[in-house]
Amino acid sequence: NWTMSSFVDKELERIRNLVGPTGSVIGAVSGGVDSTVAAVLMKRAIGDRFHAVLVDNGVMRLNECEQVKKTLADNLGINLTVADAADLFLGRLKGVTDPEKKRKIIGNTFIEVFETESHRIDEVSRQSGLGPIEWLLQGTLYPDVIESISFKGPSATIKSHHNVGGLLENMRLKLIEPLRELFKDEVRALGTLLDIPDDLVWRHPFPGPGIAIRVLGEVTREQVEIARRADHIYIEEIKKAGLYRQIAQAYAALLPVRSVGVMGDQRTYEQVIALRAVESKDFMTADWFPMPVETLKRISNRIINEVQGVNRVLYDVSSKPPSTIEFE
Ligand code: XMP
Repeated sequence: NWTMSSFVDKELERIRNLVGPTGSVIGAVSGGVDSTVAAVLMKRAIGDRFHAVLVDNGVMRLNECEQVKKTLADNLGINLTVADAADLFLGRLKGVTDPEKKRKIIGNTFIEVFETESHRIDEVSRQSGLGPIEWLLQGTLYPDVIESISFKGPSATIKSHHNVGGLLENMRLKLIEPLRELFKDEVRALGTLLDIPDDLVWRHPFPGPGIAIRVLGEVTREQVEIARRADHIYIEEIKKAGLYRQIAQAYAALLPVRSVGVMGDQRTYEQVIALRAVESKDFMTADWFPMPVETLKRISNRIINEVQGVNRVLYDVSSKPPSTIEFE
């Protein structure tokens, strides 16, 4: 892909000129395609003077933290720090059921943990003679740029997760955004060109507040674990059926109700999993995905057999609008 490879050359040069021969950059990574592509570009441009930080918020997907660590640090050679903050996040989410409160808590805690890590890395960098951290990397895409200028609707809250204004001010960091002129499909092409594994390049988007907004009602470690296991089976079966790329986003949600079931000659009273899958171009509108019945059967059997505490599985047949993609 000619246009993309010339983009890479130009961008690497632009980053090197901007940062200079000694400057250092910090940036959060999530395991998503945008932050990964941005991080790999940075790594190519300035090597270990780019510091990536992964905040484990306790509400990522099953094994996701280890997987991101493996891919980014071990395979792609990125200088990565993992901040294990799961207890802190889950502690603060205790008793909280309101979706917007969950978002605020997670957004604020994220900034706090990221800022603490940034200060620590800045200190280490200064002591080792590399100088202070001067730049903050963000994987902002063109549609994010447009949206933050023109759209003042509910998604102002969505983006509040990424509100790093205070961080920039406190640490006197300057913003660096290598993807700000690109659309999602261009970022994916760029990711492939940069040898990022397909698995990551084609990953469905995952919200900042993660599984916390997919566990309806109170978010406890046990509830997160149930949602995680169900989600893992769901995505695994979607991939096995060869449907993953046709679907824009799929996940399992844990509903805040119990339902009666039967096992042997015993009645059970357990939890309910809802499966969501949508087709969408821009996530502003979305159609529910017509999942093949055979695939649904396999998924439902597996979830009920393998995930303890669940005795019923539902498939969501609502489109956006008026439903949203997330349940909360
Ligand atoms: P909805 O549910 O509004 O979601 O149809 C549209 C897209 O946005 C994602 N989403 C979020 N992303 N923080 C995020 O980073 C959030 O709080 C948030 N809420 C929704 C959702 O996953 C979908 O891709």
